[in-house]
Amino acid sequence: MSVAARRPARQAGALPVVHVHHVSVRFGDAQVLDRVSFDLEAGQFLAIVGPNGAGKSTLVKVALGLVTPDSGHAALFGRHAGDVPERIGYVPQLKTFDRTFPATAVELVVTGLRRRWPARVRPPERNRALEALAEVGAAALADRALSRLSGGELQRVYLARALVREPALVLLDEPATGVDYLAEHDLSLLLERYQARTGATVVMVTHDLAAARYHATRALVLNSRVHGFGLPADVMCEACLQEAYGHVGHGHVPHTHARRVHS
Ligand SMILES: Nc1ncnc2c1ncn2[C@@H]1O[C@H](COP(=O)(O)OP(=O)(O)OP(=O)(O)O)[C@@H](O)[C@H]1O
Ligand SMILES: [Mg+2]
Repeated sequence: MSVAARRPARQAGALPVVHVHHVSVRFGDAQVLDRVSFDLEAGQFLAIVGPNGAGKSTLVKVALGLVTPDSGHAALFGRHAGDVPERIGYVPQLKTFDRTFPATAVELVVTGLRRRWPARVRPPERNRALEALAEVGAAALADRALSRLSGGELQRVYLARALVREPALVLLDEPATGVDYLAEHDLSLLLERYQARTGATVVMVTHDLAAARYHATRALVLNSRVHGFGLPADVMCEACLQEAYGHVGHGHVPHTHARRVHS
């Protein structure tokens, strides 16, 4: 990365990086989000957890300005997300592009710089894409056709695409889908490394409660409304999770691994 790129991500004064205020969303008869509010400060690693259909992806899309709430509002860096695209990296849950599209990993990463498929990748763009791929441990995949990537490899390439502009905020919606247990831990570790290097803020939707406890500095327990927001050890207690999930998915609440210092 360039020297300029190594500087800590600029922090937007005292403003929270993510501000969500009283956001409600209905789809048809379903109240998908119900007066959701929280603020996230710079440098935090937030895990959003909750059962299927809890509104997690919808909440991320509201923050990104991709879904307009029926009431309430959201801001990133005190602005509408569309006003600060260069500060935001996003890994969506559903990747809808055609895997047979004849493109390579480098070209997909470059769409994170240009927001469209490049007709020709310029050398400086290729260098930045290679650095981003190296950051996620996928340098060897650079010239591999997308059709020849495994699901987990494709996830890493998407992560490189999200990081290629060195965003100050990274939003990831279940980035570990399709990756094995060790690779999932690696993904969280490399996000921590990216944070340590840049001072970035990370928001990650995950179904892995143990990973959320281990890696996150904040947790949001969601099921339409907020069932808890704060330190993972506090808000991911059995009672909070049982309230949000009805029952806890795999019959137990994972143990706490208080490896990071949460304050
Ligand atoms: N564009 C839409 N139109 C209508 N209903 C929608 C739309 N997007 C989401 N929903 C519904 O809203 C609810 C919440 O969806 P959302 O994708 O936010 O849940 P989630 O918590 O991300 O779930 P998962 O863990 O399965 O990814 C679901 O019942 C879903 O079917
Ligand atoms: Mg989702």
